[in-house]
Amino acid sequence: MSAHDRAAFLHEFARAPFTVGAVAPSGEPLAELITAPVPRDGDPLVVELGPGTGAFTAAIQHRLGGRGHHLAVEVNERFARRLATRYPEIDVAVADARDLREMLAERGHHQADVIVSGLPWAAFTASRQHDLLDALTGVLAPHGAFTTFAYAHTRWAPPARRLRRSLDGLFEEVVVSRTVWANVPPAFVYFCRRPRVPALAFGWRGRS
Ligand SMILES: C[S@@+](CC[C@H](N)C(=O)[O-])C[C@H]1O[C@@H](n2cnc3c(N)ncnc32)[C@H](O)[C@@H]1O
Repeated sequence: MSAHDRAAFLHEFARAPFTVGAVAPSGEPLAELITAPVPRDGDPLVVELGPGTGAFTAAIQHRLGGRGHHLAVEVNERFARRLATRYPEIDVAVADARDLREMLAERGHHQADVIVSGLPWAAFTASRQHDLLDALTGVLAPHGAFTTFAYAHTRWAPPARRLRRSLDGLFEEVVVSRTVWANVPPAFVYFCRRPRVPALAFGWRGRS
């Protein structure tokens, strides 16, 4: 991660703190961990939500090794532009992750094999969390994996506890990683598999 990435990140945080949700990009140890479900064979469709300056992007590209399709969805236009310039081989969409279903359909896809999220869940309201989780579970393949991270110091805050409850309701398997102390700030990953279909417990719409 370059000093330029760190400066750009801080700048964007100052402009939109509740969208960027962090003052610094994630580090490589967290990127390695959160991208672990990206398969090393086949042609998977990997969706990355909220790539920012690309902390997880390089790790996903490394695991894909030129295979599959990597769609990065970033709501911040400046972040998206930087990412598209740096990684011309990636499909970068300047869009809200809430519109994931439409984005996949436009590309002739209906299901993602892996969804890696960099979204700042703790900065979101309950209804925003709900809409985003609804969108991503609506396109995750039954065999698929969803990974997302949280900061250790926010683990017991109401938005983080709400996210955990929602994940437990939406997936049969939610595994919490060790804390990555090398990250600033320290963080951990949720590995979610076997989406419940449909997510009736929450009265949310299922897949069509
Ligand atoms: C905490 S940063 C994480 C950036 C990067 N993944 C990392 O770990 O360093 C959150 C990112 O999510 C983006 N974001 C927030 N809400 C979004 C949404 N609804 N759709 C797409 N991107 C969003 C922000 O612009 C920002 O780039």
